[in-house]
Amino acid sequence: MAHRTRSKDSWMPAKNEPVDYEPWQRLTLTRVEADTRSQLASKPRRLAHSISVARMAEHLAVLYGVDPYLARVSGLLHDWDKAVPSDELIERARYFGIDLGVPLESVEPLLHGMVAARELPQRYPHLPREVWHAIDCHTSAAEDMGPLDMVLFVADGIEPLRRASEGITQTRSLVGKASLEDLFWCAFVGGIVYVLEGGRYLLPRTIDIYNTLAQSRAHKRELGIN
Ligand SMILES: [Fe+2]
Ligand SMILES: [Fe+2]
Repeated sequence: MAHRTRSKDSWMPAKNEPVDYEPWQRLTLTRVEADTRSQLASKPRRLAHSISVARMAEHLAVLYGVDPYLARVSGLLHDWDKAVPSDELIERARYFGIDLGVPLESVEPLLHGMVAARELPQRYPHLPREVWHAIDCHTSAAEDMGPLDMVLFVADGIEPLRRASEGITQTRSLVGKASLEDLFWCAFVGGIVYVLEGGRYLLPRTIDIYNTLAQSRAHKRELGIN
């Protein structure tokens, strides 16, 4: 199905599309991209980022044996609710019963993925649950990160339009060299470091997710997995 083309920097998606999609997949991708362009029309930078994340996610998916179609569609839709004003987003999060153990106002930047994951299945009922799970946890990560979740999380963090920081450069350098789990770990920990160094608010649940994942990685190392 998918065949890989190499770009100069191996972390960066090639200009030409690396995947021969089925006609029905092509149709859905075209429709979802058109919808995303319309949804984010008032936010051109966010739209450019979403399209870039979709390409990056597709690239990572091909590299790591994940479904590139689901990766690309997740990338296109992941920031859908960035178009929603803060107050309304918090209201919608309350409506869906999203509870992060802290006032929703203090974690508003994290809510757009969680809300979109609960709204968009009605609009795209034919897309599978993995897509919504990946979008749900793209801002916070989760204890149960699957391959598609990791692909979207990493793609969001390192897509080419994102200005390089030490952590982002390090994650980019590992693309295609480290396992997907290690690549995700680098992006996840880099994100935490970024929050701490900037003196920003860290979601308490992130510490639990970090500890769970760190223990799971240590356990796998003991068993000689990875
Ligand atoms: Fe996001
Ligand atoms: Fe994003």
